[in-house]
Amino acid sequence: MRYLMAVILLGLLGCQSDSEIQPTTSPSGNIQFQLSIDENGSPYYTIQHQEKTIIDTSYLGFEFKDDNHWGTGISIVKTSEKEVQNDWEMQWGEQRLVKNHYQEFTYELEEKEGRKRKVNLEVRVYDDGLGFRYVFPKQAEWDSVIITDELTQFNLTGDHTTWWIPGDWDIYEHLYNTSPFSEIDALKLRNHPNLAQTHIPENAVNTPVTMKTAEGKYLSFHEANLTDYAGMTLKVDADKLSMTSELVGSDITGYKVKRKLPFETPWRTIQITEEAKDLIASNLIVNLNEPNTIGDVSWFKPKKYVGIWWEMHLGVSSWDKASGKHGATTANAKRYIDFAAENGFGGVLVEGWNTGWERWIGFEDREGVFDFITPYDDYDLEEVVRYADEKGVEIIMHHETSSAPRTYEQQLDTAYTLMNRLGIHAVKTGYVGKIIPKGEYHHGQWMVNHYRKVLEKGAEHQVAINAHEPIKATGIRRTYPNAISREGLRGQEFNAWASDGGNPPEHLPIIAFTRMLAGPIDFTPGVFDIKLSPKYSDVSTGGDIQKNQINTTLAQQLALYVVIYSPVQMACDLPQNYKDEPALQFISDVGVDWEQTKVLDGEVGDFVTIAREEKGTGNWFLGSITDENPREVEIDFSFLDPNSSYDVIVYQDGPDAHWNDNPTSMSIGPADIQHGSTMKYQLAAGGGLAISMMVK
Ligand code: NOJ
Ligand code: CA
Repeated sequence: MRYLMAVILLGLLGCQSDSEIQPTTSPSGNIQFQLSIDENGSPYYTIQHQEKTIIDTSYLGFEFKDDNHWGTGISIVKTSEKEVQNDWEMQWGEQRLVKNHYQEFTYELEEKEGRKRKVNLEVRVYDDGLGFRYVFPKQAEWDSVIITDELTQFNLTGDHTTWWIPGDWDIYEHLYNTSPFSEIDALKLRNHPNLAQTHIPENAVNTPVTMKTAEGKYLSFHEANLTDYAGMTLKVDADKLSMTSELVGSDITGYKVKRKLPFETPWRTIQITEEAKDLIASNLIVNLNEPNTIGDVSWFKPKKYVGIWWEMHLGVSSWDKASGKHGATTANAKRYIDFAAENGFGGVLVEGWNTGWERWIGFEDREGVFDFITPYDDYDLEEVVRYADEKGVEIIMHHETSSAPRTYEQQLDTAYTLMNRLGIHAVKTGYVGKIIPKGEYHHGQWMVNHYRKVLEKGAEHQVAINAHEPIKATGIRRTYPNAISREGLRGQEFNAWASDGGNPPEHLPIIAFTRMLAGPIDFTPGVFDIKLSPKYSDVSTGGDIQKNQINTTLAQQLALYVVIYSPVQMACDLPQNYKDEPALQFISDVGVDWEQTKVLDGEVGDFVTIAREEKGTGNWFLGSITDENPREVEIDFSFLDPNSSYDVIVYQDGPDAHWNDNPTSMSIGPADIQHGSTMKYQLAAGGGLAISMMVK
């Protein structure tokens, strides 16, 4: 790792009157954060973008159990400011080198009377957004807090178009809604039939939540470095066009967060850009996290993988051996290993390998059901690992905790020691169902700490974690690079069985500008058998497979390997569905680790085009996806190296392609493309475009 550190201390200002507080201005001057104190001594902030107010008067404060409100009778006792340029390298990621240039301002705030409780506000202003956090310093009269409410406001300047999911305390797997801010109605989304756990206590949204103003500016609200704190939802006040932080709670403790001083809250982040594509290009969230603390992670390599997975979601096989159609058999695993080795995929995930699945869903008492070391008797774990090794493929472990985190914590050392012995360095975890103990929620402080403990244990054992039903990504991957990927959205699996017909064509063109801003996504693209039926019509279970399908074209399934970033990318379809399919070539060729990324164009919910240069090869790959509307995209290839020539293959929708009527119509062919070329392509309704450009 290489650090570029240039810190310029601009000034330590002594006590000053509140009206003299100067704003914090981003390096280029386009964004200004202004803190003020009103006549009641209540701190509030405003944000200007290009000299226009973009966040209006927004108050700050806290409510505590057995203690007074903090947020009135406050004065600013000291401020300090510095400019920081601290670029760093990612172990793997959307780009190797991350620029990290911001202006930092610290406001030391203190009550004028009584115990004079201090809370500092730390602000970092970048050219594409900002973050601020509360720092509770060590102090004689205050040693711990029980937070019942964080009162951070975000006051909007208009009724912005908003892309939102409900503020569910238990799951992020909702479709995004598009509406004016004032029409957000999260409560109508309670009790979705396809969610094994869901809890939406009030009209709030989860983050990232993205907005477009009438003037055409973009805003996205999220949080960074969620550590030993509750996840933040944003409560909506439709009349006042305002949001207030609403932390995820616990029915067991009745509070939101318990901490000893000193500590700091997660960063509250606002990305502010003039073009939608710059939201994706921003590194604000990772930059607001601490550098790698786990040391060398060369034991993990970014990879594409296949797995015994999609066949279960289709109902072709099952996790549960007692079903009579067990998927995780030694022979089936070897079939996937052969397929992976033949096509250059580095990993094979095997779900349903360990005993206990007969008591997975729908059981109240799930404690102690899974032990994460005992295979079913038709699965010879040692032999599968030996065979994979011989073929140069790594098995990816699977741990479905069934939301019994205490059981998992007890087993972690044993489970990871087994993985160490077998030379397995990655695990997919799962948290389906309501948390045990009842009354805790997936996104509360207790679970935030559980997910962190898993990362820490993983780091000790050289295990990388791909969590499903996770806590949201907040850039922790910078500090714990073994947080390789996660779900935390409505993934591909919903297309197999969701009773609402699966993810509509606009889903991923929204995801790219919302969930993807938080971090890597294990979406599991690559379904080639788009229509699903009637092939699986003899399957007795498996929900709505008869009427479901993937609501994209085949070309879009390819484009997703570039559009969606993750250092583990699955080719999720069954090996037999890839047989003799020329489009498989793209998945074999496409990179998973990037030297640089260029977000070329896009509009939230409509389309997005991204080009990425593979690390170490100079090869470029491009992906473009559209919603239910067909469109023409014009691509300027000036990102290519002028001194290289490329073997180019274009995978595009056929002229008659359509996500519903003709999803597999596709043309594949070479093209003469180099630096300086400009080309136009037609994307079908629900369609896509994938281009590989390999250095000759
Ligand atoms: C839900 C996950 O999202 C899915 O990928 C997995 O197959 C099941 N849980 C079983 O663990
Ligand atoms: Ca899931």
